[in-house]
This record gives sequence, C-alpha cells and structure tokens, in this order.
Amino acid sequence: ITVHVQNPDGTLTSLEAPVDMGLSLMEYLKACEYDILATCGGMALCATCCVDVLEGEEKLKEMTDDEYAMLDTLPDLLPNSRLACQLQLSHDMDGLVVKLHGVE
Ligand code: FES
Repeated sequence: ITVHVQNPDGTLTSLEAPVDMGLSLMEYLKACEYDILATCGGMALCATCCVDVLEGEEKLKEMTDDEYAMLDTLPDLLPNSRLACQLQLSHDMDGLVVKLHGVE
C-alpha cells in the first residue's frame, strides 16, 4: 500500500508500506527513520507516536478506549489525531495521508 507522509514544508513523501509483515504504522515509520520516540514500544502508553490523519481517516479502524484515553492526555490533540502504534498496516489504509503530530 502507499502511505503518504506530509513533510514540514508541505510536500508529501510517498512510501510503499508492506501489509504482510504485521507492522503497525508506528513501526513502519520508525523503520523509515522518521523521528518517532515510541517510548512505550507500541502499548498505547506514551503518545509519542501520535500522527494527524490528513486524508483517509474513514479507512481506519475505530480507536479503542485505551487509544482514546492516551490521546486525551495530549494538550494539542486534534480531532484527526491517532496513535500510529495502534494502526496495523492493512490494505484498507492504501492512500492514507498522515503528518507526524506536533511537527510543523
Ligand atoms: Fe507509545 Fe504508540 S508507541 S503510544
């Protein structure tokens, strides 16, 4: 699938992400050397993997209470913010456009 990441200058980087490796979007973006701390290792406990979904939000699974509770601790939460560690790469996510939360 293709996932697009918006850069600070507004341009998009298009990435060909594998769906057959059981990776989350967080793990994949980290592997692509995006600056994501993911301190909790994907347990929905740190919110450092937060991304803002610019396009394709409707393609994503609804968030769990745990994801919502962690996102809710962010002072600058946006309605389209998600935890990338809770989004397992899947065919449905083809064409998704995200931006790392807090990166201007
Ligand atoms: Fe910690 Fe996603 S990696 S909440």
